[in-house]
Order: sequence, then structure tokens, then C-alpha cells
Amino acid sequence: MSIKKIIAFGSAKGGVGKSSITASIAKSLSKNNKIGILDADIYGPSQHLLFKINEKPDLNNKIIKPINKNNINIVSMGFILGDDNSATWRGPMLSGVIKQLINSTDWGNLDYLLIDMPPGTGDAYLTIFKELEVDNFILISTDNTLSISDSIRTISMLNKLNVKILGYIENNIFNINNEDKNNFFEIDKLGTFTFHNKIYNFDPEYDCVESNNIAKRIEKIT
Ligand SMILES: Nc1ncnc2c1ncn2[C@@H]1O[C@H](COP(=O)(O)OP(=O)(O)OP(=O)(O)O)[C@@H](O)[C@H]1O
Ligand SMILES: [Mg+2]
Repeated sequence: MSIKKIIAFGSAKGGVGKSSITASIAKSLSKNNKIGILDADIYGPSQHLLFKINEKPDLNNKIIKPINKNNINIVSMGFILGDDNSATWRGPMLSGVIKQLINSTDWGNLDYLLIDMPPGTGDAYLTIFKELEVDNFILISTDNTLSISDSIRTISMLNKLNVKILGYIENNIFNINNEDKNNFFEIDKLGTFTFHNKIYNFDPEYDCVESNNIAKRIEKIT
């Protein structure tokens, strides 16, 4: 098993499009690369839903084999958890489950492992950064004050943890004017999304131009 690069997709704010954009960029990157996605969101796993995965890997085995969908190896907290048993977990239990998932998965050989990070920046972040050598971080932000303010705090936390930030993606999902704003932060802007129905009702077959462009950029700078 070898993983060449690990990229975490995150934002401090919830609901700004981390999971959807991670999935869409994974599809674009998978044209030229072997890709895995780790859905590390314990309270609201999404990737098994976005890729319409109904089966679960064999969890009686000590080693978890990812489910391959659209040529992407996917492991989601949704495989391990029932729909009702994570909402009240505290930090140590949460970290334990993330560790278990990270250390028991046989990814095979990957060019990129993309991590769909949970919202917020608490225990889950620290555990993931401790257990995995995250090479790069991509920040997702909407273009409004609340998300921008949280993102600035996230950038400062990542700098303290010495995690390299590749840049940010602006997701203009709520901006009805669809105007492209200038850089919000002193980090590179990798691309912009506007509201798209094939992202809103995620279609794993959809060939997304914005994601293709960002994937090319990622291939160049990593
Ligand atoms: N560019 C877009 N066009 C249309 N819909 C979008 C777009 N980006 C995100 N969405 C929608 O916005 C909602 C939130 O997206 P998503 O779940 O990917 O965000 P998230 O940041 O992963 O959320 P969470 O913090 O809960 O993990 C979803 O309903 C998704 O379909
Ligand atoms: Mg999500």
C-alpha cells in the first residue's frame, strides 16, 4: 500500500460544500490518477450518499477494503456507523473511531487520498493530522462574512500546525449574482463554483468543468 499525496478539504464553517466539491474534484482527478476518498465526518458522513453506495465493506475483517465507485476508492464513516449512533459521542470516542478507520484501511496504491473533513476544527482535526501525514490542505469558503471570518481562523490554526495550504476554493452557492469576488485571503484561489444543479443533486457521472480545471491545477502544484 502506498499513498503519494494526501489532501484534506476543509472549512471551519459547516454546509459550505466541502463534501460536494471533494467528490467532484475526486472525479476529475481520477481521469489521470488513482484516487481515494476518506470521509472523516462522523456526525454527518456524505460520500457514501453522493456516490450512491448501498453496500458496506466487510467489517468483520481486521482490514477495511474501500468500496470502489466511479473508479474511486471510498471509505466513509457512514460504513461503520448506523444512522443513529454517533450524535452524542464525545471527543475521545470520536478520535478512537477516526484512528481505527485510518489505521485499518487498505487503500491499495493511490496517487491522491482526499479527505472530506468534518465541519469545525476540534478533536477530529487534531486526530487526523496526528495519524496521517496530510501534505496539503484546500480550504472551501462561501463568499460571505461568516464563512470568510471562520476561514481566516482556520488558516491561522493550519499555520500553527505547519500544514501546507494549497489555496482556497470559492463556492458561490448562495450568491445569486454569481459575481466572482477578489481573493478573500492571502492564499491562492484555486477556482470558483457557482450554483449548479448537478452539484446540488450530486451526479457522480457529471463531468464538471470547474472541477476539471482545479484538478489540473492540483496536479501541477503537488
Ligand atoms: N456549487 C453548488 N451548487 C449547488 N449546490 C451546492 C453547491 N455546493 C454545495 N451545494 C449544496 O449545499 C449543501 C451543502 O453542501 P455539502 O454537504 O457538500 O457541504 P459541507 O461543507 O460538506 O457540509 P458539512 O459541513 O455538513 O459537512 C448540499 O445540499 C449541497 O448539495
Ligand atoms: Mg460534509
